[in-house]
Amino acid sequence: MRTHYCGQLRSEHIGKTVTLCGWVDRRRDHGGVIFLDLRDRTGIGQIVSDPERTPDSYELAGHLRNEYVVKITGRVSQRPPESLNPKLPTGEVEIYADQIELLNAVRKQLPFQVSTAEPEPVREDLRLKYRYLDLRRERMSHNLRLRHQIIQAMRRFLEDQEGFIEVETPILTRSTPEGARDYLVPSRVNPGEWFALPQSPQLFKQLLMVSGLDRYYQIARCFRDEDLRADRQPEFTQLDMEMSFLDQEEILQLNEALVCHVMKTVKGIEPPRPFPRLTYTEAMDRYGTDKPDTRYGLELVDVSDLMKESGFKVFSGAVAAGGLVKVLPIPGGNETISNVRIKPGGDLFKLASEAGAKGLAYIRVRAGDEIDTIGAIKDNLSQAQTAALLERTQATDSYLLLFAAGPANVVNPTLDRLRQAIAQEMDLIDSSKTHLLWVTDFPMFEWNPNEKRLEALHHPFTAPHPADLNELKTARAQAYDLVFNGYEVGGGSLRIYQPEIQQQVFETIELSPEEACDKFDFLLEAFEYGAPPHGGIAYGLDRLVMLLAGEESIRDAIAFPKTQQARCLLTNAPSRVDKKQLKELQVSSTYKPKSEKA
Ligand code: AMO
Repeated sequence: MRTHYCGQLRSEHIGKTVTLCGWVDRRRDHGGVIFLDLRDRTGIGQIVSDPERTPDSYELAGHLRNEYVVKITGRVSQRPPESLNPKLPTGEVEIYADQIELLNAVRKQLPFQVSTAEPEPVREDLRLKYRYLDLRRERMSHNLRLRHQIIQAMRRFLEDQEGFIEVETPILTRSTPEGARDYLVPSRVNPGEWFALPQSPQLFKQLLMVSGLDRYYQIARCFRDEDLRADRQPEFTQLDMEMSFLDQEEILQLNEALVCHVMKTVKGIEPPRPFPRLTYTEAMDRYGTDKPDTRYGLELVDVSDLMKESGFKVFSGAVAAGGLVKVLPIPGGNETISNVRIKPGGDLFKLASEAGAKGLAYIRVRAGDEIDTIGAIKDNLSQAQTAALLERTQATDSYLLLFAAGPANVVNPTLDRLRQAIAQEMDLIDSSKTHLLWVTDFPMFEWNPNEKRLEALHHPFTAPHPADLNELKTARAQAYDLVFNGYEVGGGSLRIYQPEIQQQVFETIELSPEEACDKFDFLLEAFEYGAPPHGGIAYGLDRLVMLLAGEESIRDAIAFPKTQQARCLLTNAPSRVDKKQLKELQVSSTYKPKSEKA
């Protein structure tokens, strides 16, 4: 039907007759001449119709409305100097429309303007309900193409350069131990039994290593029924990989090369290698999080040792109870951050209390005759303690020191949140920077206060550090995360391949041999038949696309995403189903709407 795409036309096409198909982005009437911006997925071309040069198309051109679908044949001409548009790649040329064919009209009022010539903000719920229209718009069509290019670059690197083989693993499967809730699917032919949708292909990719596949990858759909955030979806995509006979260092090197290949191909960026590394402990000490944004400083300072003797009970008490006192030193904060914001009712106080902190102590540092301080805790510190504090935090004139005290799992998230918020408001984040960082040496286990037992931080197949085998409870794992500008974009580990160590790990997380056998017998049995040393990683593809597209929501990296309430506004899923369907499945719902409960 067509000879060219709209966005392809350049001055070299002048004089050629072309046929274009697409959507009317907008129509402008200028004193008898009609201009149409014609759009397809490559961009926009300018079509002209006037009564003298193109009498055959003129009448119809006048009737065209936004988003009508048309086919246009005409001659490519040089634009007159006054209508050159250097902002458009096709801005040097226009097409005189000898013929216009209306292929389809718009029969309803558009819910929003598709054209982004004069951008207007559109509510996200409308964008999601009419996603097919939203995807016509430049922003989303760019993001989808970027996503495609990223996947293409991954495939090229893994298949052509590194000999990886893509294998699809089942979607109807058994529960995988990634720690979230499962999505369950009832089995009609096996009444009373359920499939789980995979939280990741973890168990299958390990089995593929037992199969001798050596290097596996998959663009894998994963399902996790967990609370949603701006960077989480219930259904998301991983680039999933597993490799045999590589040690951790080799895996990290291969993955740095992969990430650099993708960045270079799609963005022309060449991140310096080797990527910086932080151990989990260092990351928590310096940033209060295992996914620090290292594009700016504002590092935390541990002052527990200085404060354990202080007269301020909140501090000395926290240290005595095995907790921490840490400081976020903010240069210039004395001027820019008022007491109102730090005290109850203030926005910074609110951030801190959401992370579990009971209060925020502070000290303001001012230049007096000597450096002087004021603040909530000043009177409780001796001169020597104050001097040591200023020395440790390197605080000078006009610093604000914000303190958090208590258990590590309150202090660190509190100061992490404050650090991020303050970096943003002080404009310390250079969004053009690409900071990639490995975080390594995660602990094997973390305490689950609800179940009162240790649980695997990554998953129970992660191998402990060989040096820590004697003290498994506090052992480091051979696990690594890739952090990109403060987001966890990938994570993986070396796996346990000796049954004895696997057994010890199950014991540590209080999984009885019967439970382990019930859940993972097929994997444990497979490991009895000669499992190679292996390890792997999975990247959150949607997160990676979001970051490379410069978006703040994962929904803008996905064609048909779910809302924060895990709904699809376009299809209105999830929905009720016929009673007949449920009957066939031998399933019934115990849910009662609120009104019926009363
Ligand atoms: P993990 O659970 O760390 O590891 O997941 C790997 C990466 O997937 C992304 N991710 C998500 N993205 C969007 N929405 C979600 N709900 C979501 N959850 C996770 C993150 C994360 O880094 N099987 C292991 C990998 C392995 O050990 O090889 C796994 O799934 O970017």
